[in-house]
Amino acid sequence: MKGIILAGGTGTRLLPLTAVTSKQLLPVYDRPMIFYPLNTLIGAGIKDILIIVAPDHSGHFLNLLGSMFHKFGVNISFIVQKQPRGLAEAFILAEDFIDGESTTLILGDNIFEDDFTEAIQSFTSGGRIFAKHVADPERFGVVEFNDQNEVISIEEKPTMPKSSFAIPGIYIFDKEVVSAAKSIKPSERGELEITDVHKYYLEKKMLDVRVIEGAYFDTGTHESLFEASSYVREHDFRSRFHPMVNDAIAEFNAEFKKAVSLKK
Ligand code: TTP
Repeated sequence: MKGIILAGGTGTRLLPLTAVTSKQLLPVYDRPMIFYPLNTLIGAGIKDILIIVAPDHSGHFLNLLGSMFHKFGVNISFIVQKQPRGLAEAFILAEDFIDGESTTLILGDNIFEDDFTEAIQSFTSGGRIFAKHVADPERFGVVEFNDQNEVISIEEKPTMPKSSFAIPGIYIFDKEVVSAAKSIKPSERGELEITDVHKYYLEKKMLDVRVIEGAYFDTGTHESLFEASSYVREHDFRSRFHPMVNDAIAEFNAEFKKAVSLKK
């Protein structure tokens, strides 16, 4: 299983915070945002991770993560997405990295309380996405279930949502996802929509949707970023991180301090 973190985009809703660095490097309480999706992937046992970044602040990601996990057996690589052409473009950009294997894609600004280890490790083929009951489904892709809990429709940011189940930003797909992404056309807003990839698998009856119960934050707005920071502080997410991620951060901090004292 390969892992991809989508950390490009423009972050316009968070201006002026995003004028000088990427959204995914902004603090969520005591850690840059990207550590949360990174922890979700590493915690599920994924050791090969590609981070997709926008050109403007790409060096910031390299400075932070370029060698942090190297000696811990996690390989992190980077690709620059020149323009934000949509979430589904990730699979096209990452074709060589995916190299015929299954992939978990997670959005760099999504924070999950749930543990996805079982869902990722038990995955064999098709697509597996998740559904989370939210108060504002119109901000998300929305999934509608019938009485037998089967998915009957998926819609991107509908004005009249057919359910309150949002599709959060973590998706597991088999190798066919590259052809699926290549087969879809840009939407009216000019993006390759991830919901079209979901529909591709749904039409082939190869889409599995699991409801998640834990807290979930899409930290793309000032309000949700603030809420996420308060939540992770109150629920001591630091102690719930995978020990290896905590060790890698502690070591990075120690080396950073050492380098600073040598400069003095
Ligand atoms: P969004 O929050 O939809 O977009 P954005 O980050 O550009 O923010 P804004 O709407 O405020 O301008 O993106 C969700 C996540 O996916 C986020 O982590 C950025 C990432 N992303 C990419 O990496 N490439 C893309 O082409 C797009 C659309 C998003």
